[in-house]
Amino acid sequence: MATAELKKGDVKDMGLADAGKRKIEWALQQMPVLQSIRKRFIKEQPLKGLRISACLHVTSETANLMMTLRDGGADAVLCASNPLSTQDEVAASLNRDFNIPTYAIKGEDNETYYAHLSAALEHKPQMTMDDGADLVTTLLTKRTDLVPNVIAGTEETTTGVIRLRAMAKDGALKFPIVAVNDAQTKHFFDNRYGTGQSTIDGVIRATNILLAGQKVVIAGYGWCGRGVAMRAKGLGSDVIVTEIDPVKGIEAVMDGFRVLPMAEAAKEGDIFITVTGNKNVIRAEHFEAMKSGAVVCNSGHFNVEIDLPALERLSTGKREVRPLVDEFLLKDGRKVYLIAEGRLVNLATAEGHPAAVMDMSFANQALSAEYLRQHAKDMKPQVYVVPEHLDKEIARLKLESMGHKLDKLTAEQERYLASWQEGT
Ligand SMILES: NC(=O)c1ccc[n+]([C@@H]2O[C@H](COP(=O)([O-])OP(=O)(O)OC[C@H]3O[C@@H](n4cnc5c(N)ncnc54)[C@H](O)[C@@H]3O)[C@@H](O)[C@H]2O)c1
Repeated sequence: MATAELKKGDVKDMGLADAGKRKIEWALQQMPVLQSIRKRFIKEQPLKGLRISACLHVTSETANLMMTLRDGGADAVLCASNPLSTQDEVAASLNRDFNIPTYAIKGEDNETYYAHLSAALEHKPQMTMDDGADLVTTLLTKRTDLVPNVIAGTEETTTGVIRLRAMAKDGALKFPIVAVNDAQTKHFFDNRYGTGQSTIDGVIRATNILLAGQKVVIAGYGWCGRGVAMRAKGLGSDVIVTEIDPVKGIEAVMDGFRVLPMAEAAKEGDIFITVTGNKNVIRAEHFEAMKSGAVVCNSGHFNVEIDLPALERLSTGKREVRPLVDEFLLKDGRKVYLIAEGRLVNLATAEGHPAAVMDMSFANQALSAEYLRQHAKDMKPQVYVVPEHLDKEIARLKLESMGHKLDKLTAEQERYLASWQEGT
């Protein structure tokens, strides 16, 4: 697709915009922290004139982030950070109702996905906002002419932060990045409760499987894996965890789960969910061991956790049995079901994280953009954490919005905690 054609956004169908607008408004009601930031941004205009290219999952929550940036004075455009995570109605409404050029179509092929990234880069960003680091990678490898414009960027997810830290180590990163993912008010909640709930939601919406009594194998017991395991257990599943890190392994055991290598778990599992951020976690030898009827899906960032070429090689045929559920017929007659082509199941077959949790993640994005506007000139091309005072402020605002109140340290307690003499 020629970039000129994409100037004002590229969406599936503008006719969907009314439904998108309602969805965006619904999400906003559950995002009080972002709303309060937006009110202040309207008055103070901290992002005035700043060109931002954002590459994020195009959902109703993201739409509210984009409006916060726009209302803070930014000139922002948006493209999809995954070919299957776009809500087409939201993309249409962002273009039509909110004047935010959006380049995203659910189910777009690889070529269109990268054409959309290029269109977002044509905006000549001064700041990038990434989810998985595809935008920054494209910028630093294919559009080096644009790099001098960029003062800084932010990154939303674990996999992107890992990629960007590797770039910084190699000297390939050319501007500072704030790792939004690493804020406590992001990964403690978004990765755990957001991915936990929405991944199970995605599996259920895709398959309508009863989780009670099923053996659910979860690969990776990091922030996301813990959340998915907790919710599967809550629905009555017998959860098996696979891990490579002994500390995470013992944590899973003490949380009440069995820990097995995938080679053994493969024989037992009914449903498999990968959330490792690693590649080929489920591969040929595991498919060979699975029971007929096994359901396999991924909630990690990229579609590399399940070895899809191996599954194709082992199969004699494939058909779509429900929307985004493919049945693979193996040579010995067994059937394996794959959800959403191995892409993020929670965004492909459900709606991604609920707005109440994205409220904190996107508050981090908005405040990090403001912080970078003020401080980027004094920062190096490295990956930085969100300043602690912003993280704490987001938690405070969220608690307050939910009607909870904290205690305050007394003067005596402050003295006690600050002094090494007062042991007894
Ligand atoms: N679905 C979503 O909406 C969503 C949201 C947030 C993060 N993510 C993505 O999910 C992935 C995990 O994120 P996280 O924050 O939980 O990361 P994390 O680092 O906290 O956890 C990953 C875990 O996987 C384990 N692991 C690595 N290789 C493994 C292997 N071969 N077998 C078993 N375990 C293995 C690691 O030891 C670690 O404990 C990342 O790709 C991240 O970008 C997705």
